[in-house]
Order: sequence, then C-alpha cells, then structure tokens
Amino acid sequence: MTLQPGVAWIIGGGSGIGAAVANKLAERGWTVAISGRRVEKLEAVAKAHAGIVPYPLDVTDSAAVSDTVNKIAADHGRIDLFIFGAAAWQPMEVGNYDFEQFATVVDTNYLGVIRVANPLIAQMTRQGGGHFAVIASVAGYFGLPRSAAYSSTKAGLINLLETMRSELAPKKVIVRMIAPGFVKSELTAKNDFPMPFLMETDDAAGRIVNGLLGSDRFEIAFPRRMVWLMKTVRWLPYPVFFWLTGKMLPKDN
Ligand SMILES: NC(=O)c1ccc[n+]([C@@H]2O[C@H](COP(=O)([O-])OP(=O)(O)OC[C@H]3O[C@@H](n4cnc5c(N)ncnc54)[C@H](OP(=O)(O)O)[C@@H]3O)[C@@H](O)[C@H]2O)c1
Repeated sequence: MTLQPGVAWIIGGGSGIGAAVANKLAERGWTVAISGRRVEKLEAVAKAHAGIVPYPLDVTDSAAVSDTVNKIAADHGRIDLFIFGAAAWQPMEVGNYDFEQFATVVDTNYLGVIRVANPLIAQMTRQGGGHFAVIASVAGYFGLPRSAAYSSTKAGLINLLETMRSELAPKKVIVRMIAPGFVKSELTAKNDFPMPFLMETDDAAGRIVNGLLGSDRFEIAFPRRMVWLMKTVRWLPYPVFFWLTGKMLPKDN
C-alpha cells in the first residue's frame, strides 16, 4: 500500500527530524502543518515550501492541542497523516529521580500524545481514517542507564501504541511506531557520551517518510544494527542484562 499525498501534521516540525520530514513530505506534494513552541523555527522551515504551514503549539496545553486539531482540519479539510515528534530530553544524574525533571519529560513526551489522541482520532474517524504516527525511540526497548525519564516515556509510548494499533484498526486509524537510533539534532547535541551508529538527520527523515508512505507496517526502526543490538539486550537474562547495563554507567559513578 502507498499513501498518496494529502494533509500531514507534524508536532516537533520546527527542528531536527520533524523539520526534515516536513521538507520531504512537502517535496512529495503533501500539505504539511507544523507545530512546536518556537514560532521563528516554524517560520524558517515554512519558508522553504509553500505547502508547509506553521501552527505554533505547546503540547502541554490541552485546550490549545484541541484547538489546533480543529484549526488544521478547518483550514485544510482533513488530517491524513499525523506525526508526533515533540520531546523533552535532559541527560540525568545517575541515581537522582528529580520530580520536576520527570514531570516535564512525561508531560511532553507521553502526555503530549494523550492530549492529541481523542480530538485527532475523532477527526480521523469523521473523515474515514488516517495514520497516527509517534516517534518513540530504540531507547524505549529497555531501561537505559542515565536516561530514566526519557527512556521510560519512550517505553510507555511503545506499549501505548501497541494497544492503540489494535483498538483503532476498526476505525481505520492506523497507528505507527517510529524507533530511531541516534540521529544528529538539537536533542543529541546535548549528549556527552558515545553515540554508536549516529545518523544524519536527512537520512533518518528519508527512512521515516519511506516507511510511512510505502507500507502500513507498525514499526519503523533504524539503523538495523542499532535496533538488533538494543533488542538483543532486551532479551538477555536479567543477571547478564544488569551486568551489561552496569557497564553503561559513567566510570566515576
Ligand atoms: N535525535 C535522536 O537521536 C533521536 C533518537 C530517537 C528518537 N528521537 C525522537 O525524535 C523526535 C524529534 O527529535 P529530534 O532529535 O529531531 O530533536 P529536536 O530537534 O530537539 O526536536 C524536538 C522538537 O520537539 C519540540 N517540542 C519540545 N517540547 C515541546 C512542547 N512542549 N510542545 C511542542 N513542541 C515541543 C521542539 O520544538 P520547540 O522547542 O520549538 O517547542 C522540537 O522541534 C523526538 O521525539 C525524539 O525523542 C530522536
């Protein structure tokens, strides 16, 4: 199955992977609504293509999320493809589970998707279906040391999307889960640790667009070596798993 050009909405479309995906979809004839908090970032991306339209939004604001769904649907008639790519990420001190830091990450990465879900599913159901995609991460495949908040929100998202995929299939809302490895962006620029198989933003965006438009499959995960590595760690017996994840801690810990 190939998804024909229509109307896409990308939250996190003002930078990094989201911006690169917006460009690629616009090049293929899609109208692309992009959201994020920084208006200047959205406008800079929209300058590249007449088909990219900014809709500034903070995903931690429930009323604004509903309003934006309604506004995009009113302006463009429908929303065929949704991509959630907003994320908060801060490297965390080992062994410190700071409530405020967790609250920000959960509110953006996980509850952001929940705020979009009902209004957007209602819109997609009215229009006869649509694709609901979320950028999770290979960091959600197991509990990664040094990223307790981020990794656990991505794990929660993968679990949530599995449930949504089966529950929403009868409504023709096709739920998709995207799991990239390390990709160059503002987000990874904060990292001070080795990032194996680090990918260019444009390469990652190309794989996401090809995966979304070229099939209906649930999981779009890449690069393959990183995916296999992470999935193998997940399936190790716990004594070996904890020996290995212990090795991922900083040396001075
Ligand atoms: N880079 C990687 O290695 C990697 C790997 C796996 C998964 N991912 C995922 O890929 C997605 C895109 O990340 P990226 O790497 O491209 O980094 P990025 O450029 O930092 O993108 C994150 C986007 O989220 C938006 N955002 C953050 N908080 C928001 C909020 N409260 N409301 C609305 N938008 C918000 C940011 O825009 P504003 O600040 O303007 O709001 C920004 O455009 C994220 O879900 C990330 O977790 C990235």
